[in-house]
Amino acid sequence: MEVGKAKSAHVLLLPYPSQGHINPLLQFADRLASNCLCATIVAPIRNRSDFHKADPSALATTHLEFFSDGHDDGLPPDFTFETYEPNLRRTGSRAVGDLIDRLTVEGERPVCLVYDSFLTWALDVAHDHGILGVSFLTQSCAVCSIYDRYLRDLPVTPKEPNGYVAIPGMPLLGLRDIPSFIAQPESYGFFLEMLSGQFKNIDQADYVLVNSFDSLEAEVRKEIAESWSLMMIGPALPLVYLGSKNPRATKISGEQGMLTDCLQWLDGKPVGSVVYVSFGSMAVLSAEQMEEVSGALRWCKWPFLWVVRPPSANEKGGNSLPEGFIEATSEQGLVVPWCPQLDVLAHRAVGCFVTHCGWNSTLEGLTQGVPMVAIPQWSDQPTNSKLVSDVWKMGVRVEVDEKEVVRRGEVERCIREVMEGERGAELRRNARRWRDFAWEAVAEGGSSDKNIKQFVAKLSSSHL
Ligand code: UDX
Repeated sequence: MEVGKAKSAHVLLLPYPSQGHINPLLQFADRLASNCLCATIVAPIRNRSDFHKADPSALATTHLEFFSDGHDDGLPPDFTFETYEPNLRRTGSRAVGDLIDRLTVEGERPVCLVYDSFLTWALDVAHDHGILGVSFLTQSCAVCSIYDRYLRDLPVTPKEPNGYVAIPGMPLLGLRDIPSFIAQPESYGFFLEMLSGQFKNIDQADYVLVNSFDSLEAEVRKEIAESWSLMMIGPALPLVYLGSKNPRATKISGEQGMLTDCLQWLDGKPVGSVVYVSFGSMAVLSAEQMEEVSGALRWCKWPFLWVVRPPSANEKGGNSLPEGFIEATSEQGLVVPWCPQLDVLAHRAVGCFVTHCGWNSTLEGLTQGVPMVAIPQWSDQPTNSKLVSDVWKMGVRVEVDEKEVVRRGEVERCIREVMEGERGAELRRNARRWRDFAWEAVAEGGSSDKNIKQFVAKLSSSHL
């Protein structure tokens, strides 16, 4: 907490309990704290370490309250999202309701619950306990608009298998460009219901916030503003990576002391020479796909830093490297289980980001001006990839074969396109242009900064 400044109101924040959802809400909590609000995040005990992986400097300004979701020591091997959802709803509602009733921080009771939009039930908890409920959307406006349209029975898929669908504010979208939960409902029925369900009660939320910024999604924002009023407050990332000179801000690696060896490794590489590869915190790649990516990295000869996330108990067999790969490429590359991704992307040695295009990774690559090779895996990632390649023109997207595998030649071709020649230079220029727009949005007086201040003012006045 900042010392010496009177806090004007106390806000509870409830993330969906996974890394890609905790990170932006923690950053938003930090922004509220720097605007003189008290911020308390509520999360299951098992996610404690995710907060330390996220950004320890934000933890200095934010209170944390943990509750048990019955999996305090980690998720069991038979974990499924379907069976977990009612459990989270039950344990989370109880914990949040109880905190609203009894928690006091710096003399302030909570006046508002900012909840991840996936957790629609949290709005009822807030209202039943007499405080404001604010939906926080962690995906792009484009993706939110597609789910909202889906829920309202408006067209979101092409009529013909190889056709396109026209959605206001977006480029024409083929089946491969729309969220996989809509494109393949037979495989993802539960997720489709959950993600489109975000918009069932959104019109009852007191405010709707989105982790995006006005100039990035101006057209689609105009379209969805018709459905519900929203405030773009992103990118929700530590300000020190967004051009801020704020002395309080600390780089993630500095405090974490975690895996700084990969930063030292980057220090020894020429400017723009390293291919950074990461598929985020959830994707599980098949052995065949891992083999193809490994082959591409060896062939293209650039130094590479690859995050290969060890599979958890319920993901056995995924993300496994071909035997002998690490030894065979020890001169060329470095494989790590996790890294301080923002520090890596901000490093001058990194020239290309091979990414699954999770929304956080997309915003992180964009804000650091790093051009991308998009290899989407599922969920919103196909749509994010389309935006990266065709709208923002700061990356290229791979083609898959008939088995839905990206072959090594294709990965190599895309890496070369980003790293070499006039095309690479153009992608870099575009990436830097978007970086500048993002930094402008969060700077004093920028669109997201103004929206956050307006939100804070509304909460503070409702509190008086
Ligand atoms: C999931 C969905 O897949 C994504 O599409 C959705 O928008 C959010 O939830 P996830 O796989 O977690 O995303 O990817 P992403 O959104 O990119 O978030 C991953 C986060 O982990 C990023 O903030 C990234 O910086 C961080 N990370 C990842 C690290 O800090 N270190 C790593 O080594 C890898």
